[in-house]
Amino acid sequence: MKTQVAIIGSGPSGLLLSQLLNRVGIDTVILERSSRDHVLARIRAGILEWGTVELLREAGAGARLDAEGITHDGTFMTDSDLMVHIDFKDLTGKQVMVYGQTEVTQDLFEAQDRMGTTIIHNVEDVAIHDLDTTSPRVDYTVAGERRSLSCDWVAGCDGFHGVSRKTIPAEKRREFERVYPFGWLGILARTAPIDHELIYANSEHGFALASMRNANLVRHYIQVPLTDKPDEWSDERFWAEFRRRLPASAAAKVIEAPSIEKSIAPLRSFVSEPLRWGRLFLVGDAAHIVPPTGAKGLNLAASDVFYLYHALVEAVKKGSEKGVDDYSARALNRIWKAMRFSWQMTTMLHRFDGEDAFAAQMRRATLNHLCESETARRDLAENYTGLPY
Ligand code: APR
Ligand code: PHB
Repeated sequence: MKTQVAIIGSGPSGLLLSQLLNRVGIDTVILERSSRDHVLARIRAGILEWGTVELLREAGAGARLDAEGITHDGTFMTDSDLMVHIDFKDLTGKQVMVYGQTEVTQDLFEAQDRMGTTIIHNVEDVAIHDLDTTSPRVDYTVAGERRSLSCDWVAGCDGFHGVSRKTIPAEKRREFERVYPFGWLGILARTAPIDHELIYANSEHGFALASMRNANLVRHYIQVPLTDKPDEWSDERFWAEFRRRLPASAAAKVIEAPSIEKSIAPLRSFVSEPLRWGRLFLVGDAAHIVPPTGAKGLNLAASDVFYLYHALVEAVKKGSEKGVDDYSARALNRIWKAMRFSWQMTTMLHRFDGEDAFAAQMRRATLNHLCESETARRDLAENYTGLPY
């Protein structure tokens, strides 16, 4: 089999890149390790920057998002009973959209089906070869049979545990990492959100986030030790702890409901440089991970896709490799700024085990400063709603 761009992974990065390329007549084949049902069963974050919304629309995958997504003009940051409202719209003229990543992935799969793109699921042992030539090859096994895909370019959209990043020789890669000493316990429940906007809560008992998917579906999180297991957290225990971390006025509005999903995710900041190795490009989680506190994971994947899409169009249609040569530096410039923001939000809102009393005062002072300074709020709003591409 032959294609112009071989794409490894059918998460949001792979599907969005494929869809954008197909729309301008560039042929792709996607190789995915899991089944579609498995990909669609993953529950991930739910905040889209406006740039992500516009890119999904450009890809022809924005109809349901426009009908069902909820536009948010701001968010709340709290510390004990101090509640600061960050009014994105007023401060930056921008908004964000609440729409689950699972829905984004579903819409992209459907758009790709309409496009007739070949997506090969349940592939094993993907191996990328000849990246230093103009005709690389991706070998893989499906249904016990070893096959080969010839292509002009390879997009590594296979997430943090994928094979693409590891194809770049270790001595040519530089990795940067920070692992945080806690995780997020998340629940999904059919009940009304506490407020019309999200609440990021810092408290002496640790962090909590009140988020949502729609008017009758909430996604809430609390910071927990990494050693905790989801089954140690009954619904009752979760709701009690969640309420304890919110300002009293917000806690009073919590309407409890049974959880329909419960899981614990570790928090990590990670970047691998460079994002290009010969004819291979790393995109999204294959190259970088952010802690979820800034809601940047999916949005960074989208900006990587934006840069690579334009670079590949230039290479394929105009024969100019300037864009592909610049891809790594352009994408990394934005990635590092989102890394900084996600790290800052995480530090500002979480309790670190064994910390001294000074650390808690620093968090409180940061919140107080946000409360009193429009400049500080504007800076947060500018980063949260998404820096320009
Ligand atoms: N071969 C083929 N496919 C693979 C392989 C492999 N060796 N390894 C992983 N995959 C697939 C996974 O099964 C998954 O479907 O690659 C896909 C990667 O998808 P994601 O992990 O969702 O990564 P990405 O598309 O970059 O999306 C980034 O997703 O993880 C969140 O927070 C992250 O929101 C961000 C977004
Ligand atoms: C979510 O709704 O899952 C969510 C929202 C905001 C975040 C992280 C996760 O910062």
